[in-house]
Amino acid sequence: MKKLAAVILAGGQSTRMKSKTLKVLHPLAGKPLISYPLGVAKALKATPICAVIPPNQADLENLLITLDTTIAYQNEALGTGHAVMLGMKALTSFPDGYVIVLSGDVPLIQEETIRGLKQAMEKNGARLGLLSMRLAEPSPYGRIVRDLDGQVVRIVEDKDASESEKAITEVNAGIYCFDKAWLSEALHHLKPNNVKGEYYLTDLVGLAVEQNVGVVAHAAADPHEFLGVNTRIDLARVAEIMRRRINHRHMLAGVGILKENDTYIDADVAIGEDTTVYPGVFLRGTTKIGKSCVIETGSVLTDMTLGDGVHIKPMCVLEQSTIGDDTAIGPFAHIRPKSQIGRKVKIGNFVEVKKTVMKEGSKASHLSYLGDAKIGKEVNIGCGTITCNYDGHSKHETVIGDDVFVGSDVQFVAPVSIGAGSTIGAGSTITEDVPENSLALSRTVQVVKKDWKPKWKRK
Ligand code: UD1
Ligand code: CA
Repeated sequence: MKKLAAVILAGGQSTRMKSKTLKVLHPLAGKPLISYPLGVAKALKATPICAVIPPNQADLENLLITLDTTIAYQNEALGTGHAVMLGMKALTSFPDGYVIVLSGDVPLIQEETIRGLKQAMEKNGARLGLLSMRLAEPSPYGRIVRDLDGQVVRIVEDKDASESEKAITEVNAGIYCFDKAWLSEALHHLKPNNVKGEYYLTDLVGLAVEQNVGVVAHAAADPHEFLGVNTRIDLARVAEIMRRRINHRHMLAGVGILKENDTYIDADVAIGEDTTVYPGVFLRGTTKIGKSCVIETGSVLTDMTLGDGVHIKPMCVLEQSTIGDDTAIGPFAHIRPKSQIGRKVKIGNFVEVKKTVMKEGSKASHLSYLGDAKIGKEVNIGCGTITCNYDGHSKHETVIGDDVFVGSDVQFVAPVSIGAGSTIGAGSTITEDVPENSLALSRTVQVVKKDWKPKWKRK
């Protein structure tokens, strides 16, 4: 088995995206575009992997460093051939074998396809392999020109193509596998004599044919894999295909998705068997969902961890928190970061929870704000309860013991702590700690004036 290294092309200026953000950093199913070809190179155990990028792109550099990728800078985008020359300089430690060239803007590419290309090359003893596809609308891709015997002759770019060449529907996917020794030598022959004045990597195909070193054009079963992202229209199209791919993977693993094209699940989300996801749901980032959960319409979960049997009712927003088994949330609830909601908890409509622990069996069924609170087991939080956690300068904690009953419309002025088993009367403003098994009440005595009328009714 020959060794494998990879060059990922991302040196272009991506002007067609009309964006401050570099094209390869635009998100697709929650991850930057470039992380997909990088993931494929890693899955193929290519090493080293070198990404060719423009200078002064701190965000991209940081991402590549965390993904353990070698960086080569292309100060001027002089073409895909030029980019590969720079990438090869970073591969000097790679002795011999195959170099795969992937595009940072072709994110749907799959590991098996590259394996197929490599095998086709090995079988034919070819020095150059490229992936091709047939498209009903071949523009703006480079066309694969074949001779009368069907042998590949060269690639012609859209901008350089004659009318008859433009009619060719077999196109270049921009993904290649090269014999390293041949590639290193061949790159010296590239010249920028074309409409764009660039060093075209695609010119190597004509060269390999001339040198008779063996060229394989491996056709893809599914042309969708090679869609390149040049504009935001392309990105939306690719996202739709990626969405279907992700949703099908979950459905085949036993997840119910009621409307597949209206369910937005990021690439790294995990979902257990028999969970059902309704339309209009977004599951983002590193969210993990257990078995037999129901996530209803309009809910957005970001970096959440849910146990089994959790019911998220419609229109909830949940972030960076954990939820225990058999808990019900919503409708219209907001769980903000660093909350730990236990098992069999109920959080009802218009309840906001932030950085709060709520243990097994506790309930906050209606209209509450619970922030910086530690709430024990089997606690009832009455409607309209508020933890006043902020004094205008810092945040303070409210601690509520097990089995506490909090009546409606209570304010806890933090820091304050309520002992287990106590009752807080409705309408109370609690400013002092309450011991265990007590009743705390803070409301003025009710006044009743008999036979009273408002002034305007008195005659
Ligand atoms: C390229 C191919 C074309 C193919 C298409 C597939 C060439 C000359 N053309 O065209 O045959 O059908 O891909 O998607 O190769 N890049 C650099 N440095 C540069 C220029 C480009 O790193 O100087 C990178 C880009 O960031 C991008 C990739 O190379 O990731 C492809 O470049 P792009 O300009 O998008 O080429 P296409 O016109 O799409
Ligand atoms: Ca492109």
